[in-house]
Formats: sequence, structure tokens, C-alpha cells
Amino acid sequence: MSRKRVAVLISGRGSNMAALIEATKDPSYPAEIALVVSNVPDAGGLAMAQKNGIATAVVDHKPFGKDRAAFEHALQAALEQHRIEIVCLAGFMRLLTADFVVRWQARMLNIHPALLPAFKGLDTHKRALEAGVKQHGATVHFVVPEMDAGPIVAQEAVDVRPGDTEQSLAARVLAVEHKIYPLALKLVAEGRLPR
Ligand code: GRF
Repeated sequence: MSRKRVAVLISGRGSNMAALIEATKDPSYPAEIALVVSNVPDAGGLAMAQKNGIATAVVDHKPFGKDRAAFEHALQAALEQHRIEIVCLAGFMRLLTADFVVRWQARMLNIHPALLPAFKGLDTHKRALEAGVKQHGATVHFVVPEMDAGPIVAQEAVDVRPGDTEQSLAARVLAVEHKIYPLALKLVAEGRLPR
């Protein structure tokens, strides 16, 4: 079976992207990272992708101003040029329109640093500590037009420890993210999930 061609969309350091790249080094892994796209020209993850011989593209949202459709048109062109079959959002800090999301329905994943449906949105670790939850974690889900919603593909919890800070909790959750994203992509690439 040929490996599914995956694009990873990033805006920053790209540690989840790196975890996905690592996973694809196993020849039996059912997907390959064919493209990394960033909307931020100097995102740290771009250099790491290039070092791994992966094609990169920058689609800067700034010149498009409020014209989200035009930005997404450019994004879509890059994905088509590289014959992408599955999109993985990994710290990609732009909201996508329903049009774009529907086009990639059941073929686009996101990772969120919380146990969805709890703590959608930003600052999840700070809010989890403020809420006093005993368990926190990370979720990989299919992307639907509503933000941080959509069918859950993989999820793993971590204990919140007494004395945890935003940083210590984030680090523990990030380790889980790096584990469950490759697992979730594998399931999707193998077509082992009901859609
Ligand atoms: C991760 O915590 C991810 O869950 C969130 O943004 C962060 C991105 O980190 N959406 P990285 O760029 O993958 O290192």
C-alpha cells in the first residue's frame, strides 16, 4: 500500500511536526510528510523540516489582510501542488473557514492541548490549573467548522500534580501530544476509522 501524502501546517516551533516526521521514518508507517506549510515566514519548524529533506512552503496570511478566502486559496494551491491527501494542523494559529474545512472533511486533523471537550481555545494549561482539575491532557480530532470540536481520534490524560505551574503542566502534556499525534495519523492513514 502506498503511503498517504501528508501536509503539516505550523505557525511556530513545530515539535508536533517533528514527532510526526520521526514516526514516518519507520518504513512501515502508512504516511509520509510530503510538505510542511507555515503561515509565519520565520517559524522555527521550517528549518527542522528542511533539515529532514521535506518540502516547505510559506503562505503568509498578512498580505491577504481580512481576505481569508484568498489566503486559503493560496494554501489549497500549495496542497494540490504537492498532491496532499491528509492535512495535520500542528500549532497552526489561524482559524480556517467552513468552506476550507468542509473541503478537507475527514482528511484534516488537529491537536489540542486539553482533554476536549474541556478547555477549547487558548491558554488551556492556565485555565486547567485555575479550574483545579486533577486530570488534563491532549486530544487529536478531526477538524470541523466549529473550533476545537469534531470527532476525537486519540486522547490521553496526564495527572495534574500539586505545585504544577503552567510550564510544568505544558511540558507533561506536550510529551503526550508527541505520542498520540503519530498514533492518530496512523489510524487515519490506514483508513481504520469510521468517518
Ligand atoms: C501544541 O501544544 C499544540 O497542541 C497547540 O500548539 C502547540 C504547538 O506546539 N495547538 P508545536 O509547534 O507543535 O511545538
